[in-house]
Amino acid sequence: MNYKLADRVNKIQPSFTLQMATIAAEMRARGEDVINFSVGEPDFNTPRHIINAGKEAMDQGYTKYTAGPGMIEFREAICDKLKRENGIDFTKQNILVSNGEKQSLSIACQALFGKGDKVLVFRPYWVSFPEFIHLADAEPLLINTVDKNNFEPDFEDLLSKDLKNVKGLIMNSPSNPTGGIWREEAIVRILKIAKENNWTIISDECYERLVYDDEFISTEKINRDHNINTTVITCLSLSKTYAMTGWRIGYSAGPREIIKAMAKIQGQATSCANSIGQKAGIEALTGSQQCVDEMKTAFKKRRNLIVGLLNELPDVSCAIPGGAFYAFPNLGKYIGKKGNGKLLKDTFDISEYILESAKVVTVPGDGFGAPGHIRFSYATDSETIKEGIERVKSALEGIV
Ligand SMILES: Cc1ncc(COP(=O)(O)O)c(C=O)c1O
Repeated sequence: MNYKLADRVNKIQPSFTLQMATIAAEMRARGEDVINFSVGEPDFNTPRHIINAGKEAMDQGYTKYTAGPGMIEFREAICDKLKRENGIDFTKQNILVSNGEKQSLSIACQALFGKGDKVLVFRPYWVSFPEFIHLADAEPLLINTVDKNNFEPDFEDLLSKDLKNVKGLIMNSPSNPTGGIWREEAIVRILKIAKENNWTIISDECYERLVYDDEFISTEKINRDHNINTTVITCLSLSKTYAMTGWRIGYSAGPREIIKAMAKIQGQATSCANSIGQKAGIEALTGSQQCVDEMKTAFKKRRNLIVGLLNELPDVSCAIPGGAFYAFPNLGKYIGKKGNGKLLKDTFDISEYILESAKVVTVPGDGFGAPGHIRFSYATDSETIKEGIERVKSALEGIV
């Protein structure tokens, strides 16, 4: 065939977590009894009143393009939500609705960063962050975190780096993959360093409502309360809070000029977010929030269950994650040992060994820049968690 793909394609990695989900689906299709801890979405269905709002939207003819930045009534509902839940004042000109927060994050990078720019990403990172930056022709600069400290930034590492061409950073608290939540003082420090260096912060807060022990505080709220005045783009999603991953609705809130630039890029890529999802989104944000509380209560129970079980495994330690639906235990003690006669060099090998011998799908931490760790999603029911960890236990006992 006579074509040549653009270099851009080779610069990025395929979505690694989606690959793990595909492996699980293929094994199931072959009739194998597989337990999947790689899932990155709530196992609950979208709450009924939100589904009904989507159906009504179609019946009422909301099946056409909407305003590029999002329906006015949806953007107003978002402003009300940001005021009510997060204590931040915005107007609709500060809001851009996108086809999932993934698009929000990606176009934020494209609007803000370009060739020659560096963007800080904290390791362990969600697999897509470095790729959003690559797609914007910029370069990620990885900064370590301290696992004992909720995976907060390792400021010594940050300040030891050559920061000359850095233009911004992406942060994600609560985090995928660690579930860790940064304390307010760490966020204040990051905001201040960003202000001194004129960096823009992209704050991915898609797990804001899945916070189990403390109150969640948005980075922009901290920015305003402390009068730091750093430029922050807050990116949010309906996917995790309302179990709406397939509806593809996310949004960004930030300074008008940046939001306008992002809308310009989005307008030439996908026009607008889907109209039915936006109507359902209005119901999600303005309707009863009982569904969110119920899902959160279920996730918290499962978190306590899985963390307890993981810590009972031989040579495994797991911190209690404050949010999201991931546990991120350390299995580093198994590296260098053998499973099924094969040397386990890293967590890719350990995950593969667990998959082969226990039919349990996990996500190796090496894929998130976190050697030694493995991500277990607990977006699955308690019985499956018990059975899955029991199988992992038998697999680990076979390692010599
Ligand atoms: C950290 C993080 N940010 C953003 C997203 C994207 O969410 P959305 O479904 O709104 O695109 C995800 C989804 O897995 C995520 O884990």
